[in-house]
Amino acid sequence: MCGIFAYLNFHANKERRYILEILFNGLRRLEYRGYDSAGIAIDDSSTISSPPLVFRQAGNIESLVNSVNEEITNTDLNLDEVFYFHAGIAHTRWATHGEPAPRNSHPQSSGPGDDFLVVHNGVITNYEVLKETLVRHGFTFDSDTDTEVIPKLAKFVFDKANEEGEQTVQFCEVVFQVMRHLEGAYALIFKSWHYPNELIACKLGSPLLLGVKELDQGKSNSHVFQDAHFLSKNDHPKEFFLSSDPHALVEHTKKVLVIEDGEVVHLKDGGVTILKSENERGRRNGISRIASVERALSVLEMEVEQINKGKYDHYMQKEIHEQPESLTTTMRGRLIRGGSRKTKTVLLGGLKDHLKTIRRSRRIVFIGCGTSYNAALASRPILEELSGIPVSMEIASDLWDRQGPIYREDTAVFVSQSGETADTLLALDYARENGALCVGITNTVGSSIARKTHCGVHINAGAEIGVASTKAYTSQIVVMVMLALAIGSDTISSQKRREAIIDGLLDLPYKVKEVLKLDEEMKDLAQLLIDEQSLLVFGRGYNYATALEGALKVKEVALMHSEGILAGEMKHGPLALVDENLPIAVIATRDAASVSSSGSCRAIEVPQVEDCLQPVLNIVPLQLLAYHLTVLRGHNVDQPRNLAKSVTTQ
Ligand code: F6R
Repeated sequence: MCGIFAYLNFHANKERRYILEILFNGLRRLEYRGYDSAGIAIDDSSTISSPPLVFRQAGNIESLVNSVNEEITNTDLNLDEVFYFHAGIAHTRWATHGEPAPRNSHPQSSGPGDDFLVVHNGVITNYEVLKETLVRHGFTFDSDTDTEVIPKLAKFVFDKANEEGEQTVQFCEVVFQVMRHLEGAYALIFKSWHYPNELIACKLGSPLLLGVKELDQGKSNSHVFQDAHFLSKNDHPKEFFLSSDPHALVEHTKKVLVIEDGEVVHLKDGGVTILKSENERGRRNGISRIASVERALSVLEMEVEQINKGKYDHYMQKEIHEQPESLTTTMRGRLIRGGSRKTKTVLLGGLKDHLKTIRRSRRIVFIGCGTSYNAALASRPILEELSGIPVSMEIASDLWDRQGPIYREDTAVFVSQSGETADTLLALDYARENGALCVGITNTVGSSIARKTHCGVHINAGAEIGVASTKAYTSQIVVMVMLALAIGSDTISSQKRREAIIDGLLDLPYKVKEVLKLDEEMKDLAQLLIDEQSLLVFGRGYNYATALEGALKVKEVALMHSEGILAGEMKHGPLALVDENLPIAVIATRDAASVSSSGSCRAIEVPQVEDCLQPVLNIVPLQLLAYHLTVLRGHNVDQPRNLAKSVTTQ
C-alpha cells in the first residue's frame, strides 16, 4: 500500500516553504500506509510554466524532508517565493515492484523533461504489455515499477494528439485515454507543466478523496456541485487537497468528496470538474464520450485530535488506551429499549432491511484476513448460538485460491478495518458473482468494501493509525456480537441471554478501563520476556481467537516468534515443544477469570464478563504485552518491519 497526496492553491498567496510543509505534512499523515521511500514534485517558478522540481528519496518521510532541505540550500532555491497558483504532488511508498530506491520512488516520470508526473497507489496488472508497446515506440524505462508506464502513456497520448494537429488536447482527455489502457487497481494524481496550475486525479479500486478549503468561507454556503463548474464561478481564494485517506485532510478542511471508481477529477482555474467516461455506445473514433457528473461534498466526521498521538508515545499505545471510548462509540445509538414490552434490543440501521434474508440463510460465512479474521473467529460461537445458523470461517485469500463454494443462500460477512484489503475485495467480488448476500463490517466509511457490499455496519472505532490493529479488533467483536443479537432477536427462548449480553455490552467500556490498569504489570512481564525467542499462547472456546490474536500482535510488532494454539490441540503435537524454558501464555478465563502465564507462573487477572464478551477484555493485556515488548526490544511500534496498514495488493 502507498499513500498519495496533492495540494493546489488558487489565488492564494502562498510561499514555497508553506507549500512544501503542506506536502510533507500530508505525507507524514499517510506514512503508516508505506514508509520505504517517498517523493514530491513542486513548481519551479511562479511565473512561467517550466519543468517542475522533483525530489525522490529512499527511506522514510524525514529522509525526504532532509534531502529536500539540503538540495534547497545547495541550489539557493528561494523559500520565500510567493505562488498565487501552485500544484504539488507527493507520495509515500511501500514497495511492490522494485526495491526502495530513488528511481523506483514516485512521482514517476514520462522521461527527460518530466512532461508528465504521476503518483500512484495500487497495482497495474498489465504493465508489462504496456511497457513492451511503449518501448517499441521509443520510450526507455528507468525504474522497475508498474507505475512508470502511466506517465509515459500520457506523454505518448499527448504527443500523438499534437502530431495530429488537433488544438491542444485537454489534460483530462489525455488522462481518460490513459485510463482506458490500464488494468488493475489505482488511485492516480497527474501533474504536467503543459497544464500549469492544473491537477487531475482518478481512481479504480484504490481510495482517493478530494478536500476543498475555501479561504473566504463566508462567500459560499452551498456544498453541492450544482453543475460541473460550480466552484469555478467563485473566484475567491481556495485550496484543494487530494489524499488517499481522510487523515491527511482533516487538519485543512472537513469538506470532502469521496471520489468514485471511474471518475476523473479535474482541478483547474479554481474549479472542480468531475467527469466520467460514458459507456461503450458513446465511443467515437476510439475516444469515449466524457460526461460531467454532479456530486455533493460531504462533511468529514473526524477531529484533528483523533489523528494526533496526544500524550502517548506511539499510536499503538494511544489506540490500546482509547478502547473504552472507541467501544462506547461503536455501541452509541445501537443498544435501545424497544417493542411493546420495552425490552433491550439492538438496532443496526445498515442491516434493518436485510435481517429477514440473513435469518433465512443456509449458512453465514465470515471472511477476512489477519486481525479481522480473528475478530470474526471470536464472534462465531455467539452467532451460531443466537442465530442457529451454521457459521463457517474463511481466510479471504484461501477462499479465493480454492474458489471455495459460496451459494445464493449464503450470507457472506466481510470483515475489514480498512475496507480496502485486496484479498478481501477479491473474495467479495467472488461472493457477489455467486449470488450471496454480502455484508460489510468496516471502520472506513466510503471504503471499497463498504461500497461493494449489499449492506453493512460501520464499527466507528475512529482512525486507527498504528499498523497493528488493536481498537478496531475489539470494536469488530462488539459489532459482530450485536449482529448476533440482531439476527437472534426474534427468538423468545434466548431473550434473557440476549438481555444479559446487552447489559454486559453497556458495561464493557468500564471493564476495559479496569483491565488497562494492568499496564505496568504487563510492562514488567515484557521485561521478563525481552530476550526470549518464542512465546506460545494457548486458548480454547472463546479464547482460541484471543490466542491467535495475542500471538499475531507479539510477532508483528515485537518481532518475536509467537504462535496461538487451540488448547485442545496441545496434546496432539505442540506439547512436544514445551519444556521448563519455553514461555507460554494460557488464556483460561472461562473457569478461572485469569490470563495466566506459565514459566514464572504469573496470573494476570481480568474481570469476568459474559462469555462472548470475554475476548474483548482478554486481548487487552496481550496488546499491552506486545506493545511493551516492542518498545523494550527497540523495534518500531507503529511501523513494523515489512508491514503496511492495509494490504491493497494480493
Ligand atoms: C494485524 C493487522 C492485519 C490486518 C489485515 C486485514 O494487526 O492489522 O492482520 O487485520 O491485514 O486488514 P483489514 O482489516 O484492513 O482488512
